[in-house]
Amino acid sequence: MKTHLFIIGSGVAGLTLAVKFAERFPKKKITIVTKGDADESNTKYAQGGVAVVLDEKTDSFQKHIEDTLIAGDGLCDKAVVDMVITEGPKRLKELMVWGAQFDVDKTGNLDLGKEGGHSQYRVVHHKDITGYEIERALLSRVHQLENISLLPHHFAIDLITEHQLKQVSKNITCYGAYVLNQKNGEILTIQAESTVLAAGGIGRVYGHTTNPTIATGDGIAMAYRAKARIKDMEFVQFHPTALYSNQEGSAFLISEAVRGFGAYLRTKNGNRFMLTYDDRAELASRDIVSQCIDNELKKSGESCVYLDCTHLDLEAFKCHFPNIYQTCLENNIDISKNWIPVVPASHYLCGGIEVDAQGKTSITNLFACGECTRTGLHGANRLASNSLLEALVYAHNIYKYHCGNSMIYKEQIIPSWNDDGTNIPKEHIVIKHNLKELQSLMRDYVGIVRSNYRLNKAITHLDVIYKEVEELYRVSKISTTLCELRNMINVAHLIIGQSLNRKENKGGYYNIDNL
Ligand code: FAD
Ligand code: SIN
Repeated sequence: MKTHLFIIGSGVAGLTLAVKFAERFPKKKITIVTKGDADESNTKYAQGGVAVVLDEKTDSFQKHIEDTLIAGDGLCDKAVVDMVITEGPKRLKELMVWGAQFDVDKTGNLDLGKEGGHSQYRVVHHKDITGYEIERALLSRVHQLENISLLPHHFAIDLITEHQLKQVSKNITCYGAYVLNQKNGEILTIQAESTVLAAGGIGRVYGHTTNPTIATGDGIAMAYRAKARIKDMEFVQFHPTALYSNQEGSAFLISEAVRGFGAYLRTKNGNRFMLTYDDRAELASRDIVSQCIDNELKKSGESCVYLDCTHLDLEAFKCHFPNIYQTCLENNIDISKNWIPVVPASHYLCGGIEVDAQGKTSITNLFACGECTRTGLHGANRLASNSLLEALVYAHNIYKYHCGNSMIYKEQIIPSWNDDGTNIPKEHIVIKHNLKELQSLMRDYVGIVRSNYRLNKAITHLDVIYKEVEELYRVSKISTTLCELRNMINVAHLIIGQSLNRKENKGGYYNIDNL
């Protein structure tokens, strides 16, 4: 199959780019593949909102820039921060033109929330289901555009570069990707002038995460295997307040906006501990709040801390956070009477595929945007609600690049996927077991607080899992679960390796041997 623009992923990054490109180039064909239902993505679960400066009288670009730089702990790229923050309002308005609706206040202006690390109220939101609304609006626009073909349940396996063409080249070029039709097992060869990785985050590499099951780092792993530059993988962001449950898997998020609304963090015995760590208390940046909770839990031996909302205006809370209110009730937590048990959970990756300001990777004709990238915006720790913003801005920048540059593309004869000598695995327990092992080693050895001893142990254990899974991959017919496991192992390897290389603690990276 041939297409002009080939996008892997249907979250905010992939869909925004598709809409812009399709509107501007009605004769060009855009193909989006996505491995679940069309809307399944991290985007769908975003709660707090999009951070933008809308009124220069009450806020300023400069303040948002400073907040971003402070949260990033000295490792942000200042030019990128300036660009993203000043472009933000225009990109948000486009989203509204496409039909996304955000809450307004009594005066009819957009209602602005506040989150950790922000000095001002500037987070545009739709109740506490902002991402759901953005995804809905974008998909509805995508379905109106005839030159976009969206293929749900299609899993991108690997990028096609000179490696698959059995050619040797100093300059690597991307020609598309091999894609598994998850319904019938067929493997498609998709050839494209431009390929874009918009494949999202890595949360599932840690068993306990706010991310849905699609977040297995496939985009980063594919780019890494194709030899693209990958950077800042040590900066995994742990969200301080995931609803505590003693079960593994996806953890429901209690938005940072709830702390912006006035909720307090307390230990079991009622101590409002954040006051002793940081002047901003509960609204310190996320890296700091997560590290403080981790410290409190290590001291007390308890399993969780608590978010106290009992002093807040209940009707206003229900109006702002209907989804959180309801989910708490379903878990027998009446927020007007009970504190919400919370723990940190893996939430976001600040690093990823290195891209320039136009979304270009180090591989020719391969672009990337959204959570799978490292743009330089977040540095060592992302400021809350800057991720949807980054995805919108970089999708636009890739689109702009295509308006100003025609792609130089050499037609190639691309071999079909070769599965000679492979069989359907007789037992799936090896995949299940190794996934559990991987997740528990990441949780235990590569968590919020790291040490060289634990990181080295993690590398040794990971190597055993890696060898076993590579051997299984070599002899097996392709399946989504096996590919995802292989991708998560690649991502874990990058996180551990780049952690060991970091000799100074910054933002979300904290190693006791660097003290
Ligand atoms: P995603 O939205 O994750 O989309 C990735 C897409 O790629 C998916 O469609 C997936 O199926 C597809 N895909 C992945 N691998 C493959 C493959 N191999 N083949 C085919 N398709 C593939 N950020 C904010 O700024 N504000 C917030 O309020 C906020 N709240 C959040 C709350 C939660 C619970 C979570 C989990 C995240 C939140 N974030 C928030 C972060 C933000 O939602 C994400 O970083 C952002 O939505 C990522 O968008 P994306 O398009 O890059 O990736
Ligand atoms: C939240 O609502 O707390 C998540 C915000 C984010 O990840 O930016």
